Amino acid sequence: MKDFNTTVLSNQEISPGFFRMRVLAPDFGKELHPGQFVMVRVQRNPAPFLRRPFCVFRTGVLPPECDGLPCREYVELLYKVVGQGTAIMAALHGGDRVDILGPLGNGFDLECGAGDVILVAGGIGVAPLFMTGETLVRDRRVDLLLGARCREEVLAVTEFERQGIETYVSTDDGSLGCKGLVTEVLEQRLEERIPAVVMACGPVPMLRKINSICNSYEVPLQVSLEALMGCGVGACLGCVIKGAGHSDQSPRQLTVCEDGPVFWSRDVDWSQWS
Ligand SMILES: Cc1cc2nc3c(=O)[nH]c(=O)nc-3n(C[C@H](O)[C@H](O)[C@H](O)COP(=O)(O)OP(=O)(O)OC[C@H]3O[C@@H](n4cnc5c(N)ncnc54)[C@H](O)[C@@H]3O)c2cc1C
Ligand code: FES
Repeated sequence: MKDFNTTVLSNQEISPGFFRMRVLAPDFGKELHPGQFVMVRVQRNPAPFLRRPFCVFRTGVLPPECDGLPCREYVELLYKVVGQGTAIMAALHGGDRVDILGPLGNGFDLECGAGDVILVAGGIGVAPLFMTGETLVRDRRVDLLLGARCREEVLAVTEFERQGIETYVSTDDGSLGCKGLVTEVLEQRLEERIPAVVMACGPVPMLRKINSICNSYEVPLQVSLEALMGCGVGACLGCVIKGAGHSDQSPRQLTVCEDGPVFWSRDVDWSQWS
């Protein structure tokens, strides 16, 4: 894990309210496991003082002609503006500085047996799945089911397809792909073919539904969860959730930042969100 102050290379609004930020990140890609996240401090003073968590969407290396920089490696974050911190991020430009702490947490377990993988993303939940798919597709079939409210919220499809990942889009309003919920698409797919594992990221109601679908088809599931985070390193206990088998008598608590953000669904107590 590194804590470094670095340079923003670019910060583009790729769809209304959705941004892609590229920052210089020396020696970062080697340490990073798909699904891990970073804590970004956009501003020291005034508020917001706390860092904000973001999954790493992808890493890369600038072409040799980009000289004059301290390094050529970068990471990209894909983010949605929802409040004060992300609004400040959205106003950053190339050349501005940000503090990055990471990589943090546990990413997806990629040693999960042979066989196909289905990735399921809800909106901005696509962010931790790109590097995961990019790695897995080297030796197996990987499909992405991408659900969003409308076409403006469907992100990065071409990049997944370029990796050889078959992508199926669904939108709530039918403005792109098929009309309906991504969970319905998942059920149809599982009727046709059972994969070795499903990996999902998105809003909790979507993940709960996916958990119940995967249970009924007996497919193992990994989920990337979100929680409000204070520190990102297991110190503040602000991101605690209940683990499977939790009770008042024998508490089983998990931190999303250190034990996760990716969990096997069987390790999570899903009733806490009912
Ligand atoms: C491990 C992890 C990875 C994440 N990766 C991404 C990513 O790749 N791209 C992305 O756009 N977002 C991601 N998020 C969510 C992102 O951290 C929040 O959207 C961001 O912190 C909001 O900051 P803010 O100051 O703009 O909003 P705030 O002013 O702090 O909050 C605005 C509203 O958003 C809600 N909110 C804030 N953070 C969260 C959260 N973590 N979960 C649920 N609701 C929240 C608040 O309750 C409030 O209603 C991730 C979160 C976690 C925990
Ligand atoms: S965010 Fe502080 S313990 Fe997880």
